[in-house]
Amino acid sequence: MTTNVNKALLLAALASVAAGAMAQDGDVARRVEDLMRRMTLEEKVGQLHQLSGRQMTGPGSEKFADKLADIRAGRVGSMLNVKGVAETREIQALALQSRLKIPLLFSLDVIHGYRTVFPVPLGEAASWDLDAIRESARVAAREAAASGIHWTFAPMVDIGRDPRWGRVMEGAGEDTYLGSQIAVARVQGFQGPKLGALDRVMATAKHFAGYGAAIAGRDYNAVDMSEQQLHEVYLPPFKAAADAGVATFMNAFNTLNGVPATASAVLQRDILKGQWGYRGFVVSDWASIKELVEHGHAADLSEAARQAIEAGSDMDMEGYAYSRHLAALVAGGKVKQSVLDDAVRRVLTKKFEMGLFDDPYRFSDAARERAVLADPSHARIARDVARKSLVLLKNEGQALPFAKDVGSLAVIGPLADARRDLEGGWIVQSDPQRVVSILDGIRGQVAPGMRLVVAKGCDVACTDTSGFAEAVAAAGRADAVLLVVGESWDMSGEAKSRADLGLPGRQAALFDALAATGKPVVVVILAGRPLVFNGVADRAAAILYAWFPGAQGGNAVADVLFGDYNPSGKLPMTFPRSVGQVPISYQQYRTGRPVVNAANVVYRSAYIDSPNTPRYAFGHGLSYTTFAYSDLVLSEPVMGQGDKVEVSFTLANTGRRAGEEVAQLYIRDRVSSIVRPLMELKGFRKLKLEPGERRTVRFVIDRDTLAFTDGKLRRVAEPGEFDLMIGSASDAIRLRGTLTLRD
Ligand code: NOJ
Repeated sequence: MTTNVNKALLLAALASVAAGAMAQDGDVARRVEDLMRRMTLEEKVGQLHQLSGRQMTGPGSEKFADKLADIRAGRVGSMLNVKGVAETREIQALALQSRLKIPLLFSLDVIHGYRTVFPVPLGEAASWDLDAIRESARVAAREAAASGIHWTFAPMVDIGRDPRWGRVMEGAGEDTYLGSQIAVARVQGFQGPKLGALDRVMATAKHFAGYGAAIAGRDYNAVDMSEQQLHEVYLPPFKAAADAGVATFMNAFNTLNGVPATASAVLQRDILKGQWGYRGFVVSDWASIKELVEHGHAADLSEAARQAIEAGSDMDMEGYAYSRHLAALVAGGKVKQSVLDDAVRRVLTKKFEMGLFDDPYRFSDAARERAVLADPSHARIARDVARKSLVLLKNEGQALPFAKDVGSLAVIGPLADARRDLEGGWIVQSDPQRVVSILDGIRGQVAPGMRLVVAKGCDVACTDTSGFAEAVAAAGRADAVLLVVGESWDMSGEAKSRADLGLPGRQAALFDALAATGKPVVVVILAGRPLVFNGVADRAAAILYAWFPGAQGGNAVADVLFGDYNPSGKLPMTFPRSVGQVPISYQQYRTGRPVVNAANVVYRSAYIDSPNTPRYAFGHGLSYTTFAYSDLVLSEPVMGQGDKVEVSFTLANTGRRAGEEVAQLYIRDRVSSIVRPLMELKGFRKLKLEPGERRTVRFVIDRDTLAFTDGKLRRVAEPGEFDLMIGSASDAIRLRGTLTLRD
């Protein structure tokens, strides 16, 4: 039998090589069926078992003898947490000792770069630059694929409206439209046009679904929301990723309306594989099948396995539920053979599409790994993406950019010379040697003869204020003052929920001490989420929000501080004034008691101790130049369901520097069967304009632009009037129009 299989595989491989390309769809289906016919029940279950390979090779690997034996016996389908050509070759060789020689899929969390660390995803989202985001994912894929990786667990496409939830760092922010566009760009960047290219990897849309809406912003917490909200706000980025051909989905740790997402047939079978016709496979989150027991949804691990496979979770990540129980469940008739076969077929299809049956080592080539990881263009691209991710929140009296010939600059703060923190969380391997700190970046830019006075003030935790006096003295001696504060890299990310969104420890007091000198203080803030920093916002001369900008972050920040790059980032999440306002989004729903003006707040939907407005609105971000919006024209004031209307206007750079603007289109549905938000983003364009340049910008509005999910979960565009709002931020609308949708 082995010989026959080998012969079949060999013939198929030869055919594919002869065709000079990866297997075609029909060919893949045939090869999958051929293999399925030869597989035992145990071998099928093996394809659905994913193991973590951390520390499985090298010293200490003996303790993993069982895992290694499982791989050799064909009882493992995929590994996560393995990387590098040497390691992946070693482990793949074990899999090829198995009876059917089915290669393993190697997966890893390549979230914002592999060797070259890019800005955290939320920072990249702030660029609103889909080409840059696609390019970042392409470089990450290229490096990962050269290091034996087939599959990344990215992009995270969860909508996040609660900055207490630390994982907002990994997503694209609060908005469904922007999030969907970015989801597609990332999938395209990771995967390329077709699976199987040697410089791309399979992507994962995660976490399906609702994970970003954890109650109270506490990671892994329950999620409870209306189905309408789920379909309208949280699912579209997943649908966009599916439509863009994302190879896999990952389900989620959370319950959604009482059912753990991992056991949700509604999500995985009905919506994903049913309504959306999704053909890829679903991997569980880490041990999330096992956690069905902890949730109190399954009595034991066997029951958990049954629930998960029936719900459509195809692969079990480190849960050991399938490996221990699935064969018995199928043999005992408790799980249908067809359910198992469907899952196995999906996994094998991806292995064929990746070309692994043609050459299991095709991603593990030492020469390519060396060459690709040393490619100097990657750092240049990372610097470009990092510059685009920076958001200039405030710039009073043109405090920025600094003149390059400023006599002396005080560089103060716990993060001014930080390296590890610039990388942010979820990196494959920290390499502080490759990180350009903000101080390094500044040193590389300043004119000879400029005096830099450096003082840390305190560390990131900032409980000890004994360094403040030195910092204040340094500020006193300098012509300009820069303070770099914020979170350490490990304060945002998975399991990093915060109940307090302030600057850590006494960092705000350090700012106060510097501001008390009377010198204008420019502040750079590093963080993986929107923070609350009202004192700084009130009194800093300028604020640059840098997120965690990656290994080239210091150069990027210096480029902006000294005007070599004109900032163009816009916030992808609302910045609240206080934790009490969260969850918060620019997509406020209309109420029966809106606040009409500041004097009219009694018995209105308002706080008695805070304005409703955020500190910085979604879409906000300044430039060193100014832009004027004028001449709004609608091709037609009235449209039918099948029509398209063009909305155009003129954008002009009215300042003295070249700069990029993100022009944003919002709509409001005036009257509808489900109350709509006050405004919803429906389009944006990022344009670069020279000083004095004017350009006509166009958006096309069709039925889809005006549609929403109604109470019966149908996409409808209801006749009536729609307000159109165009501007440079959700709170800086410059042009308004009205469009009527006819019956
Ligand atoms: C748990 C996280 O939720 C998920 O995003 C990640 O991909 C897996 N662990 C694997 O590391």
